[in-house]
Parts: sequence; C-alpha cells; structure tokens
Amino acid sequence: MKHTIEVMISEQDVQARIKELGKQITEHYKDSTDLVMVGLLRGSFVFMADLARAIEIPHEVDFMTASSYGNTMQSNRDVRILKDLDDDIKGKDVLLVEDIIDTGNTLSKVCEILSLREPKSISICTLLDKPDRREVNVKVDWYGFIIPDEFVVGVGIDYAQKYRHLPFIGKVIPDAE
Ligand code: PRP
Ligand code: MN
Ligand code: MG
Repeated sequence: MKHTIEVMISEQDVQARIKELGKQITEHYKDSTDLVMVGLLRGSFVFMADLARAIEIPHEVDFMTASSYGNTMQSNRDVRILKDLDDDIKGKDVLLVEDIIDTGNTLSKVCEILSLREPKSISICTLLDKPDRREVNVKVDWYGFIIPDEFVVGVGIDYAQKYRHLPFIGKVIPDAE
C-alpha cells in the first residue's frame, strides 16, 4: 500500500512526556530495592531506552518477546512467549514497558504469565494507549498519550517492520489511488 506519514505527536512532545513519566515512576519506586524494567520486543525498545534514562533510581532491564497474533479477527487470541526474560523476577518490582496497548491481549497474557513467577509487584507503563480498541481489560499505571483508533508508527512502532526509528509518532495515511 502506498502511503505517507503525517506527524501526530512531535519528537519534542514525546520526549517531554517521557521525562514526566520518568519523574512519576521514580517517585513511585523511590523505596524499591529491586526494580526491573521489562520491555516487550520489538516495539518497546526505543521507549524503553528513553524511559530507562529518565528514571533516576537504580534498576535492571530485561526483555521478552510475546508472539504476535497477526491480523486474525478471532477473539480467543493465543499469545505465547517466543523469547523469555533472562533473569528471575521473584520478589522484584516489575515495570512492564510497552510502546502501545491496542486490544490488550498481549499485555494481559504477559501479566498473567509473569504473575505466576511471584514478583513483588507488576505495573504497566505504555507510551500510547488506544482504549477504543480494547478487548481485554488491562490496568495501565502510566501512559504517555491516549490516541484515537489510527494506524501509527514511530518511536519503536512499525508498519510491516518499517518506521520504528522515527523519533515522532506518525499517522499512516494511504495514498489516494
Ligand atoms: C504490537 C505492539 C504491542 C501489541 C499491542 O506488537 O508493539 O506489543 O502489538 O497490541 P494488543 O494490545 O492488541 O495486544 P506486535 O505484535 O506488532 O510486535 P512488535 O512489537 O514486534 O511490533
Ligand atoms: Mn509489540
Ligand atoms: Mg508490530
């Protein structure tokens, strides 16, 4: 599909918001001795890097990959772990970091799986939240921006694996035929 990308949220606004989130998260975890940021690959890697540098307390970082369920319209979506965390999270404060929450299927399943490992706590921080598309309820602790149901790219988010590098959030607009 031929398309153009239009800026929806500027790089400056994204960066300013991440700094605010970093401050709030730092305050929330100020007494934590065992904080681990868990990024869901691939989409979270850019936000994760920026957010980690905006959090002013010592913490670990770890990553996992959950299977993408593609474009299937079925509601019972099967989300599995393709790459697991490197370290144990038992007794730790886990901060799950996502680029975007859409239907909520990925995060709700990942939360379920990680809860079984007895972390001290699990919280969620997402850069973007698209509540209009939600199928499964997910408790979001921090979000950067609530966005309408538009196809977006940038800051880690892809369209057919491209555009993850864009420093702003862009809207994908199909070209007129
Ligand atoms: C995208 C996005 C979230 C998930 C959100 O990942 O990065 O992880 O979908 O959708 P949901 O709330 O409906 O589950 P994707 O599966 O495209 O993989 P990617 O991170 O590698 O792009
Ligand atoms: Mn993802
Ligand atoms: Mg994707």
